Amino acid sequence: MVDSLKKPAFEEMRPGVKVPAKETILTPRFYTTDFDEMAKMDISVNEAELRAILEEFRTDYNRHHFVRDAEFEQSWESIDGETRQLFVEFLERSCTAEFSGFLLYKELGRRLKDTSPVLAECFNLMSRDEARHAGFLNKALSDFNLSLDLGFLTKSRKYTFFKPKFIFYATYLSEKIGYWRYITIYRHLEANPHHRIYPIFRFFENWCQDENRHGDFFDAIMKAQPNILNDWKARLWSRFFLLSVFATMYLNDIQRKDFYAAIGLDAREYDIEVIEKTNETAGRVFPLILNVNHPDFYKILDICVKNNEKLTAIVSSKTPKFLQFFQKLPFYLSNGWQFLRLYLMKPIDTASLEGSVR
Ligand SMILES: [Fe+2]
Ligand SMILES: [Fe+2]
Repeated sequence: MVDSLKKPAFEEMRPGVKVPAKETILTPRFYTTDFDEMAKMDISVNEAELRAILEEFRTDYNRHHFVRDAEFEQSWESIDGETRQLFVEFLERSCTAEFSGFLLYKELGRRLKDTSPVLAECFNLMSRDEARHAGFLNKALSDFNLSLDLGFLTKSRKYTFFKPKFIFYATYLSEKIGYWRYITIYRHLEANPHHRIYPIFRFFENWCQDENRHGDFFDAIMKAQPNILNDWKARLWSRFFLLSVFATMYLNDIQRKDFYAAIGLDAREYDIEVIEKTNETAGRVFPLILNVNHPDFYKILDICVKNNEKLTAIVSSKTPKFLQFFQKLPFYLSNGWQFLRLYLMKPIDTASLEGSVR
């Protein structure tokens, strides 16, 4: 009895194989793109930098990094109750996000092989890294007696179609935000080792360097296509993608603040730090960044957090579905309105800072 109370039950599709979390607007997305358009891309203006990045990928600094050591070989029953639930959720989300990168890069490597060999090899080597990351996380899930069926995920997930330039904005940001998320957790636990309740966090230092290199690759690709960075449309889209990525992370993490608390982090402070750093980094390539220090920025995001709490409560209530729709509507509208308010906040121009220290 005590056991069943302490161990959260997960829905399994086969013994030990977890039913994937339901897809929502906040879950990691799978992407597909216009492969022909990408294959026709001319990268000659920045080919030297792309070749240098390819050399780095070939060096494969993390070849021997992702090896589970003796510290994993113990019972993890001590992580129980809600913390266990949150841990499994964290591992699943991370694994799904890494795996989605693997699938996209693998396919790009395959489709670009004949027309654009430098890019194709870069994508293949990045898919190698993401496969390692996803595999390492899936192995970690097995410490909690679960795993994800990645083949099933490949077939069952919906794929979002983005034109190549949007793929670049989105993957650039997800790699860079991934870098800042991993390194921030790593540094926090290095300073506070008593909060490191599971060994995977020790691997984050080298791991995040992979993400950083991946981000640099997309930075170099965008610089090879200056037309996607320097017109008025690029300015509007940069704002949109920065805001979407920051808002999604913020809503997800605040909702799971107990997970961060379990490793001694305040989710809100952690997110503010990661957003600040990612925004600053993005200024090296995007023509503008968001004014995340505006006194209203997080206040508005917090309204969305409250709206989402209300939405979750409605969905889990016993109210009939058609009535739920009307209950949910004002909160959806409010979220849309808050997003628009954030979007319309005056951004910080980085194009005009060109040449100064950034
Ligand atoms: Fe990764
Ligand atoms: Fe990556």
